[in-house]
Amino acid sequence: MKIRIRWIRWSFLLLALAVLAGLALFKLINEQPRLIPAFLVEQVRQPDLLEYPEARRCADCHQEIFEAWKKSRHSLAWVSESYIKNSENRSKEKCLACHVPKEVVPGVKPDPRLQQRDDGIYCVPCHVRNGAMNGPYDLFSPPHPTRKNADYRSSKFCSTCHQKTFKEWSDTGSRQTCQSCHMKRRGGRLTQKFPLNWMHVKREVADHSFPKGDLVTDSLYVQGSFTDAAFMVRLVNTTVPHRVPTADNGDPRLFVQVTFMDEKGGELDGDREILSPQQDTALIYQKPVDLQFFPPTQTQSARIVLRYQPAWGKERSDVVSLTVQR
Ligand code: HEC
Ligand code: HEC
Ligand code: HEC
Ligand code: HEC
Ligand code: HEC
Repeated sequence: MKIRIRWIRWSFLLLALAVLAGLALFKLINEQPRLIPAFLVEQVRQPDLLEYPEARRCADCHQEIFEAWKKSRHSLAWVSESYIKNSENRSKEKCLACHVPKEVVPGVKPDPRLQQRDDGIYCVPCHVRNGAMNGPYDLFSPPHPTRKNADYRSSKFCSTCHQKTFKEWSDTGSRQTCQSCHMKRRGGRLTQKFPLNWMHVKREVADHSFPKGDLVTDSLYVQGSFTDAAFMVRLVNTTVPHRVPTADNGDPRLFVQVTFMDEKGGELDGDREILSPQQDTALIYQKPVDLQFFPPTQTQSARIVLRYQPAWGKERSDVVSLTVQR
């Protein structure tokens, strides 16, 4: 009996010590990493992380960010069907810089890289600079060195490749960064690997799926009106601080479909306009555009439907649909 109680006491003591050691380590890592001796840090470093490993390697710890990136167009920049076709089976040298970049230095055209081309625009070119993982935070990571770098929250970072869109954005004078719409942040952990996920505080994690931005009814102002002989459609890009649609190389489109109907709602005729950067007809921020259509004489009403087609695909989605009476 006595031995049993002593044993329980000892295990409580050990448990308390372990918890204390854990708390001390947590404090050290998150608040005073500079107190950790360099020779200890060397033991846990994984130098291959800075040597262009494949993207999957980062998923050992950054599982959630990896999954998001995998869904992004950036992960397809080298393997998408349309890229392969347009680059003449990847033979055009001048395409490499942005589709398989070696290192992203904000505002400077990248050199192409030779390693892991199938990963397209991935973690390493976007984060490794001068022998460390650069990012938005001042933090200590045991497996690899890190460096806080303010570029990561500025639009200039994206301007490296999105040159035309960046120019359009600058012209609007907007103070909303590209990241604020295309990399929204929410609370979470940077790593999912045990015990690292317990040893680091919660932070904000940016959406690495780089969503294209939803055009919704409120993004654009659309109005239709009949004059004596014509039907006018007024469009204003009221909210998106670059052109709609916008592109550097791709061919996204906004279709403006107008259908005229008689008093019974029967369709009489229709017509459409295409707004696209390739044809220089995309909607400039806050600049009204008037399109003119000619309805048949029996027309009693008109339906306007706006459809959006992204740079990389053919499927279209409805953005706005409204009917106007004569
Ligand atoms: C063995 C685990 C591990 C692997 C593998 C790993 N990381 Fe990390 N990384 C961490 C930890 C831990 C942190 C710090 C987390 C925290 O403090 O919240 C971190 C932080 C970061 C940061 C933030 C830097 C900053 O200052 O804002 C970036 C960027 C980063 N890692 C990129 C990468 C990339 C790219 C790869 C793949 C080449 C990679 N990591 C592989 C563990 C890892
Ligand atoms: C190294 C060049 C490069 C950098 C840096 C870069 N991009 Fe891209 N981005 C591309 C390329 C190339 C594509 C098209 C990939 C494809 O579809 O094949 C693309 C596609 C996109 C798309 C389109 C997604 C879709 O679904 O249509 C968005 C949004 C985007 N990038 C946002 C950003 C933001 C925000 C930044 C800055 C944080 C950024 N990009 C930095 C090259 C880059
Ligand atoms: C097109 C460039 C680009 C690619 C590709 C990319 N990142 Fe990032 N990453 C960024 C930017 C920009 C930020 C800062 C976003 C912000 O905070 O507004 C960031 C932030 C981070 C952070 C800090 C936490 C956060 O979300 O702010 C980590 C960790 C990170 N990235 C890891 C990765 C990993 C791992 C991959 C690959 C699976 C990857 N990144 C791919 C540009 C990129
Ligand atoms: C206020 C939010 C907002 C900001 C800020 C913003 N965008 Fe967008 N972006 C959108 C919306 C909404 C769309 C969809 C409509 C369109 O194509 O114009 C979009 C579309 C895009 C697309 C086209 C995707 C495709 O496949 O057609 C790219 C590329 C892009 N943005 C890049 C950027 C870059 C680079 C910046 C910074 C210079 C930026 N955006 C700033 C909201 C924003
Ligand atoms: C300066 C950087 C840059 C260079 C150089 C570049 N691109 Fe791109 N490319 C982009 C960006 C950014 C996008 C994202 C969509 C957009 O804004 O058009 C893109 C998108 C695309 C797309 C549409 C997305 C998809 O997967 O279908 C194709 C196709 C494409 N590029 C082909 C090429 C070809 C072919 C070349 C060489 C002749 C090339 N690009 C050179 C930056 C570049």
